[in-house]
Amino acid sequence: MAYLDAHVNGVRSTLTVEDRTSLADCLRDQLGCIDVHVGCEQGVCGACTVLLDEAPVRSCLMLAAQADGHRVTTLTGLQRLDPSATTALRSAFESEHAVQCGYCTPGMMLVARTTLRDYPAADEATIRDALHGNLCRCTGYQQIIEAVQVAGSLLTASGDSAGAHHGEGNGSAGDGVAIDGGTASSSARTDGGTS
Ligand code: FES
Ligand code: FES
Repeated sequence: MAYLDAHVNGVRSTLTVEDRTSLADCLRDQLGCIDVHVGCEQGVCGACTVLLDEAPVRSCLMLAAQADGHRVTTLTGLQRLDPSATTALRSAFESEHAVQCGYCTPGMMLVARTTLRDYPAADEATIRDALHGNLCRCTGYQQIIEAVQVAGSLLTASGDSAGAHHGEGNGSAGDGVAIDGGTASSSARTDGGTS
């Protein structure tokens, strides 16, 4: 067994995990982060992407124990970490119809946020390159690329930019968030579903 002491979506989490438990399984099964989607379990699809200290990682390829001492952010926690980018991405994904089944959406949004943080005026080629490791079986990608561009424009127009830090409080994960994997009811969900 291994000991894990990490901040997950702004909440300190201490627990014991099996040595072999992946971060994805730990997040879903032990911490209830069902917005972390598991597709291939071999690092190919990007559905399980989370932020580790703000860097996108594939949580199926990490052991949970490796997150000890780190900050882990799932799509649920992105609202707390970066509300401006979250709002822009959510609006753009809905307006551009970039969500169908939603299975890829958490990973797509987390990578998109990092892309817009690093390249606020990212062009199509930059966005395609950034998202090339995230697979989508539904949309054909074009709507997703356009949504990220629209989100970048929204952030620029508002004078904000992805990456603005607003602190990570001690509230429960997902409070007040409509993209958290269970509370949205719109047909154009941006929560990525619940399974
Ligand atoms: S489930 Fe982790 S990359 Fe596919
Ligand atoms: S996999 Fe269905 S919307 Fe991307």
